[in-house]
Amino acid sequence: MAQDNGNRHVPAHVAIVMDGNGRWAQQRGLPRGEGHRSGVGAVREAVRAAVACGVRYLTLYAFSTENWKRPPEEVNGLMQLLVESADTYLQEFIDGGIRVDTIGDTSALPPLVRGAIAQVRKMTREGKKLTLIIALNYGGRPEIVRATRAIAEAVLEGRARPEEIDESMLTQHLYTAGLPDPDLLIRTSGEQRLSNFLLWQLAYTEFYFTPKLWPDFTGADFEAALHDYAQRKRRFGGV
Ligand code: IPE
Ligand code: IPE
Ligand code: MG
Repeated sequence: MAQDNGNRHVPAHVAIVMDGNGRWAQQRGLPRGEGHRSGVGAVREAVRAAVACGVRYLTLYAFSTENWKRPPEEVNGLMQLLVESADTYLQEFIDGGIRVDTIGDTSALPPLVRGAIAQVRKMTREGKKLTLIIALNYGGRPEIVRATRAIAEAVLEGRARPEEIDESMLTQHLYTAGLPDPDLLIRTSGEQRLSNFLLWQLAYTEFYFTPKLWPDFTGADFEAALHDYAQRKRRFGGV
């Protein structure tokens, strides 16, 4: 695992399944979209806490390949929120040394969202403090299928031989190529499942589940998860 923050007790890469926005809104008699809107505040908290703690990579699951099953109003609302948030936080990201990137099939997103992403990626590319990776139209299985296809094409075209296919080659064809695997995965809202998130990359990741709904998740909650992680003994199959 990459430990470029120099402290093995601090995870270099934290991934979060930000779940529970809908229930947060429902509990208040509000439309689900208000839960998503409130969730943006929790993203800001998590980013600040990650920087303060010395985390180098933060990957946030914002929209899965399965989330298209939701009502169009909700999907549209989420897309709009992405565009708005990109605008609202761009300067804060630049000032804070935060490099923003995405994983997932962004080509299927509405043009306005793609434009906003392109702008934020370009304007934040010099950021050195934290890499913030937003998983958008991301699914772990489609990611592995895509990598497999690319490798099959390479073999067909004579650029690779079947016996050269190994874990490293597959890793290099994933959206996350070049990133260290997550050390810690957090999921809010009490659900204890992966929901198609980073299936390959989470092979030896530590999991942390909390009943808190995502809009209620604070910087202190992020620190509590890191504190829990610091007590873990990772073995990677060894002793
Ligand atoms: C997570 O909150 C945000 C997204 C999936 C976009 P949900 O919208 O899944 O909230 P719940 O799980 O319905 O409460
Ligand atoms: C996972 O949450 C996806 C994101 C947080 C973006 P879901 O709410 O979509 O997952 P399920 O449906 O409960 O498994
Ligand atoms: Mg959910």
